[in-house]
Amino acid sequence: MRPWLLLALACLPLACASSDGGEAPAASAAPDAALGLGTDPAIVARCLSCHEDAVGAAWAHGSSHRVLFDCDGCHHIGDDVPHTKAPALPTCDTCHSEVAHPAGAVCAGCHDPHGSANAFLVRERVRLPDGGSAPVHVGAAEGSSADGLVRQGSDAGAAGTGLCEVCHTATAHYRASGDAAAHATTFCGECHDHQRGFPPPDAGE
Ligand code: HEC
Ligand code: HEC
Ligand code: HEC
Ligand code: HEC
Ligand code: HEC
Ligand code: HEC
Repeated sequence: MRPWLLLALACLPLACASSDGGEAPAASAAPDAALGLGTDPAIVARCLSCHEDAVGAAWAHGSSHRVLFDCDGCHHIGDDVPHTKAPALPTCDTCHSEVAHPAGAVCAGCHDPHGSANAFLVRERVRLPDGGSAPVHVGAAEGSSADGLVRQGSDAGAAGTGLCEVCHTATAHYRASGDAAAHATTFCGECHDHQRGFPPPDAGE
């Protein structure tokens, strides 16, 4: 999170946050033109009238993005509807300081900014390096459990089908093939820091 944004958010009525995709927040979440914040249901309805197929199902899940922003809070299209110029896609680093993985990859390979059934806005189908995609389930926030970031067979699901496995073909641990050794039972992020792009703890800058 960018520090300036965190400061600004401290003033927002986050108590109205709902994670069930339910009601739009109360009108007290007044748009802030400087930050592009705003949760105007009329804007959302207008955009979804044409973009329901691409975005509607994800948006329906609800997320902190949905609580804090309407479509224009990120896209800044204003009244250019229908568009007279091709809308530029926003970049995550306007507001966030995490580093992608592998470094240089796009954030949207793992995350869907519009919403997801998974925790942390992790895509329901992660984009693989070979151009394909793979389904992943990320439930709870912790470690290598059934609801965590990796699968190791039996109750946890087929080995190799977790978020931190599906792309890997050449790592020393946690490959998609399921045949590489596991090596930790605690939260991957304790050692593989998202702020550096998830490298092993003794690597990187
Ligand atoms: C009248 C129909 C219509 C409305 C309303 C509309 N759009 Fe679009 N939008 C389009 C079309 C057509 C395209 C170009 C084809 C495509 O990518 O879907 C487009 C493209 C886009 C793109 C670029 C997609 C890409 O893949 O690069 C974004 C982002 C976008 N619109 C966002 C919005 C937002 C946000 C709103 C509301 C403020 C909105 N649109 C309202 C029809 C509409
Ligand atoms: C938190 C910021 C954010 C909000 C809120 C947001 N978008 Fe996006 N949107 C993005 C980003 C970032 C991308 C580019 C994703 C990528 O690179 O694949 C994107 C991509 C798109 C695209 C291109 C197709 C796609 O699915 O990638 C469309 C269309 C679109 N958004 C429409 C909308 C509409 C309609 C809304 C409101 C219901 C909305 N967005 C709300 C950030 C946002
Ligand atoms: C206009 C600012 C803005 C943009 C653009 C934006 N975000 Fe966010 N995002 C926020 C804010 C504010 C929050 C809520 C505070 C937090 O959790 O950091 C948030 C929350 C999140 C969360 C935590 C959600 C959860 O439920 O755990 C993730 C993950 C995330 N953003 C990823 C992304 C990604 C990936 C992109 C680009 C595809 C993106 N964001 C674009 C502002 C933005
Ligand atoms: C390899 C998949 C992957 C990629 C690529 C990725 N993320 Fe994440 N992201 C995660 C996972 C898993 C979590 C939850 C665990 C964690 O925070 O370490 C997460 C959490 C987050 C959060 C919430 C952090 C919090 O403390 O609540 C934000 C914000 C975020 N990512 C933004 C980004 C941005 C911005 C990018 C691109 C620069 C990006 N992510 C690229 C997998 C990814
Ligand atoms: C979108 C695809 C993708 C996802 C999802 C993914 N990785 Fe990776 N990762 C790669 C690629 C590509 C490599 C290079 C080696 C290979 O191809 O097996 C790699 C290599 C690594 C390495 C060794 C190289 C380095 O960075 O120093 C570590 C550690 C790693 N991944 C951790 C993780 C963790 C932790 C997660 C879950 C948060 C994760 N990966 C999820 C694509 C991914
Ligand atoms: C206690 C710290 C710690 C935790 C927790 C941890 N790792 Fe690691 N990880 C390391 C260290 C140290 C290395 C480098 C030495 C090695 O390969 O064993 C490493 C290496 C890796 C590699 C291979 C890198 C390569 O060069 O091929 C992958 C992939 C990986 N970890 C994924 C994960 C995943 C996924 C999780 C969560 C289930 C996780 N790690 C949890 C410390 C940790």
